[in-house]
Amino acid sequence: MQERLKTLKADAWQDITAVKDSKELDEVRVRYLGRKGELTGLLRGMGQLPAEERPTVGRLVNELRSELESSLEAKREALEQEELEQSLKSEMLDISLPGRQPGRGHIHPLNLVLDEIKQLFISMGFQVVEGPEVETDYYNFEALNLPPDHPTRDMQDTFFVSKDILLRSQTSPVQIRVMENQKPPVRIIAPGKVYRVDDLDATHTPMFHQVEGLLIDESATFGDLKGLLNVFIEAMFGKGRKIRFRPSFFPFTEPSAEVDVECIMCSGAGCRVCSQTGWLEILGSGMVDPRVLQIVGYDPERYQGLAFGVGVERIAMLKYGIADIRLLFENDLRFLGQFK
Ligand code: DAH
Repeated sequence: MQERLKTLKADAWQDITAVKDSKELDEVRVRYLGRKGELTGLLRGMGQLPAEERPTVGRLVNELRSELESSLEAKREALEQEELEQSLKSEMLDISLPGRQPGRGHIHPLNLVLDEIKQLFISMGFQVVEGPEVETDYYNFEALNLPPDHPTRDMQDTFFVSKDILLRSQTSPVQIRVMENQKPPVRIIAPGKVYRVDDLDATHTPMFHQVEGLLIDESATFGDLKGLLNVFIEAMFGKGRKIRFRPSFFPFTEPSAEVDVECIMCSGAGCRVCSQTGWLEILGSGMVDPRVLQIVGYDPERYQGLAFGVGVERIAMLKYGIADIRLLFENDLRFLGQFK
C-alpha cells in the first residue's frame, strides 16, 4: 500500500509539473483528487487493510492529499502569473510610436485682422466697446442725423425686425450709445457685425464687419483725423501702398471723406474686384457733425470730434490678397488653412 502511495505521489508530481494551462491543471486535479480519482480510489481500498495499518495509511493518504492540494494551488498561482505576464507583453503599448495629431484650429483671418486693429488702437489710448446688432431706428439712423423719410436713408437699406427695430446697417450707432453715457473726452473703437440688403458678389455679403472709431475732445481737427488714419493704414498695409482721401458725404459728419486703397489684385489697373476703378474703398470718415453732438447733449461750441468706420473684410482682402469676399464665410478648410 505504501509503495502505491509513493508511486502515486511521484506520478502526481510529474503530471503537475507538466501542466501548461489552467485547463490541464483541472484535469490533473480531477485525476488525483476527484470523486473517481486515484487518491480517492486508494482511500476506498483501505477497507481491505488490516485494522492496525489503517491509521498509519490513513494519515499518509491525508498528508499526500494536502501535499497535492498545495502543489496544485502553487501551480495555479504560477500559471496565473504567467498568463498575466503573457497578456501584459502582448498588449504592451509602444509609446515611442508617434501619435496621430488631431486637427488643430486656428484664428479666422477676419479675427486676425480685428485683433490687429484692436491692438493698434488700444496702444493709442482707445477703449474697445460693443453695441447691439439688433438696433432701434433711433440709434441706427435718427440720432445720426438721418431723419425719417429723408433721402440719405437710401444709402443703407437694412433688414427690419419691426417698424422701429432693425439689424444695424453700420457700427455708427455705438457712437451715440457711448456719448449718451459718457462725458468727453471720448476715445473708442467699436468692432462688430453689420447687415445690409446687398446682393452677394465678389465684394458684397449681407453681413460684414466694421470697426467704428470716435474721438471727441476740446480740440480735434481734420489734420488729426488724417494723421490717425495714415497711422492706421500704414500699420495694416505697410509703408508705400497708395491711398487717397476722397471728399464724400455722411449725414453724421461734416466734412466727410472716404479712404481708398490701391486695388491689391490689379495694382490699380482695374479689375473685377475693384469694379474696374483701380481703387478699393476701405473706410468712411469725417468730423462729427455739430448736430450729432447736440443730439447727445454735448456742447458743439466746446467739443469737436472725428470719426471713422472701417470695413474689416476689405482690409483682410487687401492684406491677404483675397479676390472674393465670400471665401471668408464659406468655411472651406483649404482656404482657412492658409492662415495658420
Ligand atoms: N457708417 C458709415 C458706413 O457704414 C461709415 C462711416 C463714415 C463711419 C463716416 C463713420 C464716419 O464713423 O465718420 O458707411
